[in-house]
Amino acid sequence: MHITVVDHPLAAARLSIMRDERSDNAAFRAALNDLGAMLVYEASRELNTEKFSLQTPVAATQGTRLETPPIIVPVIRAGLGMVDPALSMIPDAQVGFIGLARDEETHEPVPYLEALPEDLTGQPVFVVDPMLATGGSLLHAVRLLAERGATDITAICVVSAQPGVDALADSGLPVRLVTATVDPELNDNAYIVPGLGDAGDRLYGPRNIDL
Ligand code: PRP
Ligand code: URA
Repeated sequence: MHITVVDHPLAAARLSIMRDERSDNAAFRAALNDLGAMLVYEASRELNTEKFSLQTPVAATQGTRLETPPIIVPVIRAGLGMVDPALSMIPDAQVGFIGLARDEETHEPVPYLEALPEDLTGQPVFVVDPMLATGGSLLHAVRLLAERGATDITAICVVSAQPGVDALADSGLPVRLVTATVDPELNDNAYIVPGLGDAGDRLYGPRNIDL
């Protein structure tokens, strides 16, 4: 599996705001907005482009545009915080939705929503979720996308844990990963260490669970 770790001073500064427990919901959301845009920018580097003719106020020239804009697929809840930054980078992208909640006992993803085009053949997909921990949620999401014919899938995560990266790589699914960091491990509750806590809670408010 191809992995890109975005190593940039501005990305590292936003990630630090997200990790810092003193950052409130608003500061966390603002940092994710900026960092999400940086990750989407990097993930877009290999997208196919096409030329078209245009006229500047001075002369005729060639313009460049995306051949097929990727569909953005957030894994709800936390992935919703990456939709606006993704659309700011790719305004003509469509958006699909996958709703998953991790069972806090088993750490397995429990699906509750699937709102996607029936056929994703030939369609690049950016699946966005700030956290890749055990990998269960992302694997479930990528399988759903592959079942609909997607073969060009990029997972965009802020914090990835090594066990989740390994699970994704071992799956053999057609996915590459763009992330701001790969953290070494998970704690007993399958939270990423050092991580940033529960991304959904830090974006939108707590659900009273033990980290
Ligand atoms: C978080 C996160 C991922 C998942 C990662 O979502 O946004 O979807 O956990 O964990 P995994 O790699 O072990 O599956 P969560 O299930 O907590 O739901 P939420 O976004 O609604 O808070
Ligand atoms: N989900 C989160 O939001 N954070 C983690 O550390 C692991 C799963």
